[in-house]
Amino acid sequence: MAGFRTLDSLGDVAGKVALVRVDFNVPMADGAVTDTTRIKASAPTILELADAGAKVLLLTHFGRPKGQRNSTMSTSIILDGVQDVLGREVMFIPEVEGPVVAQAIGILRPGDIGLLENTRFWPGEEKNDPAFAQGIAANGDFYVNDAFSASHRAHATTEGLAHLLPAFTGRAMQAELEALDKALGNPQQPVAAVVGGAKVSTKLAVLEHLVSKVQHLIIGGGMANTFLAARGVDVGKSLCEHDLTAKAEAIMDAAEAAHCTVHLPYDVVVAKEFAANPPSLRTCNVHEVAADEIILDLGPQAVEALADVLKTCRTLVWNGPLGAFETPPFDQATVALAKTAAALTGEGSLVSVAGGGDTVAALNHAGVKDELTYVSTAGGAFLEWMEGRELPGVAALIQQG
Ligand code: 3PG
Repeated sequence: MAGFRTLDSLGDVAGKVALVRVDFNVPMADGAVTDTTRIKASAPTILELADAGAKVLLLTHFGRPKGQRNSTMSTSIILDGVQDVLGREVMFIPEVEGPVVAQAIGILRPGDIGLLENTRFWPGEEKNDPAFAQGIAANGDFYVNDAFSASHRAHATTEGLAHLLPAFTGRAMQAELEALDKALGNPQQPVAAVVGGAKVSTKLAVLEHLVSKVQHLIIGGGMANTFLAARGVDVGKSLCEHDLTAKAEAIMDAAEAAHCTVHLPYDVVVAKEFAANPPSLRTCNVHEVAADEIILDLGPQAVEALADVLKTCRTLVWNGPLGAFETPPFDQATVALAKTAAALTGEGSLVSVAGGGDTVAALNHAGVKDELTYVSTAGGAFLEWMEGRELPGVAALIQQG
């Protein structure tokens, strides 16, 4: 990976202190971690460093404690979950800098792992305070960033530390950057982007960036209604940001100028109320939506047409569901297109990269999450990357000269 130093370029780390930024901002219920995906993602990095004899200190934020200690957001709460995934004992260290950390390092043996307290208990973290970063760096020999999903934050442990110690990309960060490069950096063409979700307002910057990057822009979810309305379609009682129809038109004009085809549904699944399997459910052409109906999913013809588009493409980048997939039967379009993407990926004709919280849930629901080329669990960071923005935590890892 040009510009980045991976763990392959680490020399002998035996006895050295590795400060490893992970994103263990994981969901919890009843005192237990309910989704260990992010811990599992960084396990290879942590174990590789520990097995090479480093003393591995894990840095993470956990929730948004706003610069104050808060026992409900202490990383001690996730310690068991971390130990379970790593299969190793991990020492909890209730500070991130200073003599307590130095003392813990004295106790740890080469190959041992320590979990530091929530970095956001200190205001210096989110302010990217150089003195705070310096205090943390003072206890380490080198820095590894394995937290792509936090790299849109210019914080002390996601950005500042990279300037104070020799800085390396962890294995999860490396895999993420390689996948993203294949998806939008240097993709095989043609490229299709699926952008779904409820609201256009949250994805305007993504859409504006994508029209110049991809050949096919597939718009789904509630946000497609705003585009349909911009084209003069009466969307009935559907979710629609009528104040953004001019923006939607501008995006469609920009797409046309950039030779990017915008795909909007021509048939849709509608109902008079948003509920599971409502009696008023029907499928119709977008021009036949009644004044009292709500569009809740793409129709089968639209899905078939989109599957045909994917068959002509070599790369797919996907963010956001096509319909209200959490409520049956409005998951059908998302599930069907996800299965097509998985099948094409399996055949080797498509590189498929997806990301974002809802998207991961939708792909899991479709049972194909592990069949795409790469699925990013990053939320905000993935969106900012899709907007073409520079992520400060990633930029800081690029080696100058
Ligand atoms: C996430 O969960 O998306 C990351 O951990 C970033 O968290 P934040 O939005 O609180 O910065």
